[in-house]
Amino acid sequence: MSDKKTAAEIAKRRTFAIISHPDAGKTTLTEKFLLYGGVINQAGSVKGKATAKHAVSDWMEIEKQRGISVTSSALQFNFEDHCINILDTPGHQDFSEDTYRTLMAADSAVMVIDASKGVEAQTKKLFKVCTMRHIPIFTFINKLDRDAKDTFDLMQDIEDNLGIETCPVNWPIGSGKNFKGIYERKENRIVTFSGTEKGTKEGEENFIDFDNESAVLDQIGEDAYEKLQEEMELLDGAGAQFDLDAVRAGQLTPVFFGSALQNFGVEIFLHNFLQMATLPTGRVSGDEVIDPVEHEFSAFVFKIQANMDARHRDRIAFMRICSGRYDADKEIKHIQSGRTFRLSQPQQLMADERKILSEAYAGDIIGVFDPGIFSIGDTVCMPKDNVKYEGIPTFAPEHFARVRQVDTMKRKQFVKGIQQIAQEGAIQIFQEFNTGLEEIIVGVVGILQFDVLKFRLKNEYNVDIILENLPYEYIRWVDSDTDMSSLVGTSDMKKIKDMNDRPLLLFINEWSVDMTVKRNEGLVLSEFRKN
Ligand code: G4P
Repeated sequence: MSDKKTAAEIAKRRTFAIISHPDAGKTTLTEKFLLYGGVINQAGSVKGKATAKHAVSDWMEIEKQRGISVTSSALQFNFEDHCINILDTPGHQDFSEDTYRTLMAADSAVMVIDASKGVEAQTKKLFKVCTMRHIPIFTFINKLDRDAKDTFDLMQDIEDNLGIETCPVNWPIGSGKNFKGIYERKENRIVTFSGTEKGTKEGEENFIDFDNESAVLDQIGEDAYEKLQEEMELLDGAGAQFDLDAVRAGQLTPVFFGSALQNFGVEIFLHNFLQMATLPTGRVSGDEVIDPVEHEFSAFVFKIQANMDARHRDRIAFMRICSGRYDADKEIKHIQSGRTFRLSQPQQLMADERKILSEAYAGDIIGVFDPGIFSIGDTVCMPKDNVKYEGIPTFAPEHFARVRQVDTMKRKQFVKGIQQIAQEGAIQIFQEFNTGLEEIIVGVVGILQFDVLKFRLKNEYNVDIILENLPYEYIRWVDSDTDMSSLVGTSDMKKIKDMNDRPLLLFINEWSVDMTVKRNEGLVLSEFRKN
């Protein structure tokens, strides 16, 4: 049982990840959140993509070379009596399995959609992982200061493509040059938009009661007024009713509109989000749900960041605290090894600095020095307890390559290196179905991981490799007892196995996946592998 202070601290926590397709505005929105949190004074310092300012994670040499962040990290700030943890989900070239794993540590997700584009490919993939966990998803439709798609079409697009019901909390009045602001349905008022200075917090947001017709007309004009009235009638008649339980169960997404760049609608979104989002939720250990407040400290590892300093093979394990209070002075137990010790150098990221911390609470993310004992999915808890959280699934890689060594004499280092890197979870390795380890096939979620692999094998193990790209894009674990030798596949199908000799299939297109399932009775293929 936690003390009062711990219970109050946990109740303040909101831990979420932002999911979006590259360029939808995730970074800009994060910057504005931090602005409201008073963490940064001027937007633009989170991570300068173009300008290559490495404010947040400047850890790996490769990051510096490429000017992007390879690892995902968490940021903490306070707003309206809440303590907010934002998990950063890398989304550009640095999209990787870590992006998916990060979603395992979140209690809810904010989905940013570009109003001129609608749902895009990467959003869809990340959304799938969120629905697997049934976490609440909040939608922010961004870039209303640019010409947008029809609002009803955008709603339809989300419902059709993602299979979740939508409930607009507010509604845009025009877009692009004619963007006048938003209408807040519950409050029955409009919030007018006047372009704000880039990067400042104080945007002019004027609130006008919608029943005050002359004031509304004065602000938005007759055409926009009539259109809004028509749209609201349609929406009230046909749209889903707001239902907080459905939101929290991940069945209904509240939708908000705005412009992250112009800082319009962002505070309204943040305020509503904090009211609707859940506090840290209980997680399953065996047949028990561990209550975040009632239970003492427990956490699980969702990411391991290796070799931040190439001279020392150090690794940082990122943990999501699931229950209780973490006290740096107390010993904890690592369930998988049974060992009891004190976590060393626990640290937390505050926007642009890392700080060593002495305490943290359920909902928080901490990074600890890993002497090489942690694996992704491991649990730590108090020595007297035996909490063991469900493992993190293995996600389907989307790019494959055959790996060859340049110098075949270095076979031992090569196998050791590639196995260690795979064990950390940066890549997945497979073997040809019939030959075994002579031919190694590497699968990655994000293409950059190939470069990371090459770089690390060279730098840490002194092994040069050649990667030969393979055309496959779809991988499926065989979950049934199907006899692999008599399996009838398609011409583009390839049989492989993982390091534990479990069979898998590779395909070039999705059509072949369906075809193969149809051709083989009882064949069960899956996209994730529960560990
Ligand atoms: P991401 O993290 O999701 O990839 O997107 P990011 O925030 O980096 O935004 C991508 C581009 O879209 C940026 O422009 C950004 O300024 C712009 N943007 C974000 N939100 C809005 C918005 O509400 N309205 C408009 N009009 N633009 C928006 P860029 O030119 O690629 O980068 P930069 O030179 O401005 O940094």
